[in-house]
Amino acid sequence: MFDLHGKVALVTGAGQNVGAGIAGVLAARGATVAVNDLRVERAEATVAAIRDAGGTAIAVGFDVTDYDDVDAGVRWVEGQQGRVDILVNNAGNGGEGGMVPTQFRDSEPASWRGPVEVNLYGVMNCSRAVINPMCERGWGRIITIASGAGTTGLNIGVSPYAGGKGGAIGFMRHLAVENARAGVTANTLAIGLMGMPDPKVTEAMARQIPVGRTGTPDDIGYACAYLASEEAAWMTGQTIQLNGGAVTT
Ligand SMILES: NC(=O)c1ccc[n+]([C@@H]2O[C@H](COP(=O)([O-])OP(=O)(O)OC[C@H]3O[C@@H](n4cnc5c(N)ncnc54)[C@H](O)[C@@H]3O)[C@@H](O)[C@H]2O)c1
Repeated sequence: MFDLHGKVALVTGAGQNVGAGIAGVLAARGATVAVNDLRVERAEATVAAIRDAGGTAIAVGFDVTDYDDVDAGVRWVEGQQGRVDILVNNAGNGGEGGMVPTQFRDSEPASWRGPVEVNLYGVMNCSRAVINPMCERGWGRIITIASGAGTTGLNIGVSPYAGGKGGAIGFMRHLAVENARAGVTANTLAIGLMGMPDPKVTEAMARQIPVGRTGTPDDIGYACAYLASEEAAWMTGQTIQLNGGAVTT
């Protein structure tokens, strides 16, 4: 089940953390993975880890917020591997909210740009660059990594991030409807809390999660492996809350 041999996957922002985990799981299931990151040296580190584990991967640097850069990167991957069958829009920008919990009413307009450009425009740019060839081949999988913050009011300081993620969720639902008859599915994982570098913070976060632990990059990768698979052909247009059981509605 969920065998990805013969498929080419592109994972954005996969130079570390969640994206690196997704890329690793897809490669372990047999996909050839194009590892994107704005910081190419990070993408190359993920590629090296995948190759060390016996998988196949290439690095591709582009900025998901720049359509021309995305298009050139996707065409380059197609030139190397023939096509892109699976796109995982993972690259994200948390804005300033996590570090400086500024209420929206006190925020500076300049601080909204990053979270909306990466979390919404990044998803639109990458999806636009892959969708027509997927439709022509009659098969494709587009997966976006969003956040519970895009569907639920969670905490102070993340409203621009939530705007980007929530926009991406709405965009993905319509991408799914428009392309369902062409064999292309589009789904979103609204993921919950991942571990933080400080174990005390991670422990405190874990206490709020019914399963009793924060998520791991592999947890997200396993869900992507399902959504990317042949077996997930009837799963489209959905936003899946992947969060260890936290109630988000
Ligand atoms: N970590 C969490 O707790 C958490 C929770 C909910 C949702 N998410 C979402 O999961 C995804 C991954 O999160 P993470 O914690 O691994 O993020 P991270 O910040 O650790 O890594 C993101 C990677 O994306 C790259 N990137 C940033 N902007 C880019 C751009 N414009 N073009 C290409 N690459 C770019 C960065 O260089 C970085 O390597 C994000 O979309 C994030 O919003 C994370």
